[in-house]
Amino acid sequence: VTRKKLLTGSVVYALAVVGGLRITAAASIETPSLHQLKAQYTRPASVPFPPDNPPAEAKAKLGEMLFFDPRLSGANYISCATCHNPSFSWGDGLPRGHGMTGLPRRTPTIFNTAWAELLMWDGRKASLEDQVLGPMSTPAEMNQDLSHLVEKLDRIEGYRTAFTAAFPGEGISVKNVARAIATFERTVVSGTAPFDRWIAGDEKAISDSAKRGFDLFNSKANCAVCHSGWNFTDNAFHDIGLPDADVGRGAILDLPSMQHAFETPTLRDVERRAPYMHDGSLQTLREVVEHYDHRAVQRPSLSEEVKPLNLSSAEKDDLISFMLTLNGDNPPVEVPVLFSGTQTARR
Ligand code: HEC
Ligand code: HEC
Repeated sequence: VTRKKLLTGSVVYALAVVGGLRITAAASIETPSLHQLKAQYTRPASVPFPPDNPPAEAKAKLGEMLFFDPRLSGANYISCATCHNPSFSWGDGLPRGHGMTGLPRRTPTIFNTAWAELLMWDGRKASLEDQVLGPMSTPAEMNQDLSHLVEKLDRIEGYRTAFTAAFPGEGISVKNVARAIATFERTVVSGTAPFDRWIAGDEKAISDSAKRGFDLFNSKANCAVCHSGWNFTDNAFHDIGLPDADVGRGAILDLPSMQHAFETPTLRDVERRAPYMHDGSLQTLREVVEHYDHRAVQRPSLSEEVKPLNLSSAEKDDLISFMLTLNGDNPPVEVPVLFSGTQTARR
């Protein structure tokens, strides 16, 4: 309920007259409701890891190498990072997967998947560990026969040593490949953004337009009912009225409300990840805002939270300014030097 509340008197500029000089002090007096609302957007202090795969430096480092290693694919040329490319905010900048075969849906970012409850656009995977093996063995993706993977990695001396260090007494196994990669993925967290500095109290960190946009996001534009909390997702599934035929979650859960429903994506770094939506059908944030404003396809499964917004052009600009403040100062990614070993290992 609180996140639907209207923000009132969000910023009050105190006008002071000191020694005959009129100065405007940017002393912001927060109303209790704005204070409460901001508290809902505070970044968490630590990353959650599951008890059955606790974090360890050796495991995360090994997972990073595996994530970037094309030898995890059948033909030794495509890695997780080919599609989840750090240079594209861990996506690929393509509407639907890579160019050779194409994929049914767009590549999502792996940013902040440590906090995800279900994975994939339709939520068909319950954990990162469980997710890893899918793309590795899928023919249209990495096409690696998993029964040969252990043998293949075992031929690379560096991996033998690294697996023993990360999983003492266990070594190389398909399960440990998944555990290492999942551990690495949990360390991929979007960096602090101007929005976070504003939440923390720096009034100058974002523009007035962005502040108005945040207000709209939580009120008239109704975005925060789904894009909630610091990661801007409720981890739930909704039909927002995109016209394509994909039923999304509906193929997994045969409920009327799940037809055309997809998981709410994070909006962290969103501007760096065009094109948008599960089908990459919207090119710009302006197109996204226009969609929510008046373009949603009316059908029984359409979320009741998506209704015509009648936003003015200035309000649309403000919403976009706000979304731009979510671009984080992401730490530079050091691309790992991979262990040398046979590149021609058969699959
Ligand atoms: C050919 C491109 C491609 C490759 C290679 C690839 N992915 Fe993906 N990845 C995708 C696409 C497309 C989806 C979304 C598919 C869907 O939801 O139906 C996805 C989804 C994911 C998700 C779910 C994210 C979320 O928020 O739900 C994770 C995690 C992930 N991939 C990790 C990996 C890992 C780890 C590897 C390597 C073992 C990998 N991917 C290889 C394209 C790729
Ligand atoms: C009913 C829940 C809901 C509401 C309300 C909502 N969204 Fe979304 N949003 C979603 C879902 C679900 C998706 C993914 C839809 C898909 O791909 O089919 C999405 C996708 C997006 C994307 C694309 C992100 C990406 O990586 O592709 C942006 C940007 C976005 N929403 C912004 C907004 C804004 C701005 C508002 C308010 C005007 C808003 N949303 C309102 C649920 C919602």
